[in-house]
Amino acid sequence: MAEVERTFRVFRYKQGQAAPSYQTFKVKAGPRTTVLEALQEIRRTQDRTLILRHSCHHASCGTCGMRVNGQEVLSCVTNVQELGAETVLVEPINNIPLVADLVVDMGGFYERYVDAHMPYIRQSEFEPDADLPEGIAQYTRYENCLECGLCVSACPVMGSTSDYLGPAALAAAWRVVAEPRGQDAGRAAEAALEWVDNENGCWRCHVAYECTEVCPSDVDPGGSIMALRRKLTGRKFRRLLRLER
Ligand code: SF4
Ligand code: SF4
Ligand code: FES
Repeated sequence: MAEVERTFRVFRYKQGQAAPSYQTFKVKAGPRTTVLEALQEIRRTQDRTLILRHSCHHASCGTCGMRVNGQEVLSCVTNVQELGAETVLVEPINNIPLVADLVVDMGGFYERYVDAHMPYIRQSEFEPDADLPEGIAQYTRYENCLECGLCVSACPVMGSTSDYLGPAALAAAWRVVAEPRGQDAGRAAEAALEWVDNENGCWRCHVAYECTEVCPSDVDPGGSIMALRRKLTGRKFRRLLRLER
């Protein structure tokens, strides 16, 4: 593939402006040019005021999430030519407060993970050279969340209420329930189930799986939410049966 010219239509907004706008740039893209590289080229050669966020450039840090032609993606691994469009529309992710241009404030997103009774990050009880517990492979995907926010952006329920815990936090809660790790595993799992068992937790989901569709790391938040529901429903049935006896 040879170098091609593409029109980038980029969302622009700075604090204090009455309304956002879109700015057009022409960019040359080679066969391996990514959207992130094209935006960095714009910053270097055309407009140094363009604000964007990135770090690793290889789909690990989760900081470069954007909507490209309406689709949530990591811009560092989104190839410009493979988009197959003359115009590349670039916008910030949805449902997370905007800071400027393509950057959103992830503070509220991270806070959703933090709960005194359900610590998302726990101290390991394993010695550094300990073997992994049997069956750990099946839980690996819960460790894979990049905290990129793409699932939150794609979720229609997050668009209608900011009270919803949202797909990433619910997937984290399911990890705590499903992963039999830690000396306090039983208590943490109970607390996590308690945390999600309400109208803003796993019952708010509309089961459309947009979150799972856009997740770049195979976390499957939609599947995690359904697993939480199954777990809670089973627990309620068991309690009812005990009451009837
Ligand atoms: S499955 Fe649930 S959490 Fe995922 S996008 Fe749909 S409504 Fe949102
Ligand atoms: S669950 Fe997937 S899409 Fe959501 S924040 Fe984690 S890695 Fe990103
Ligand atoms: S720059 Fe780190 S995931 Fe894209």
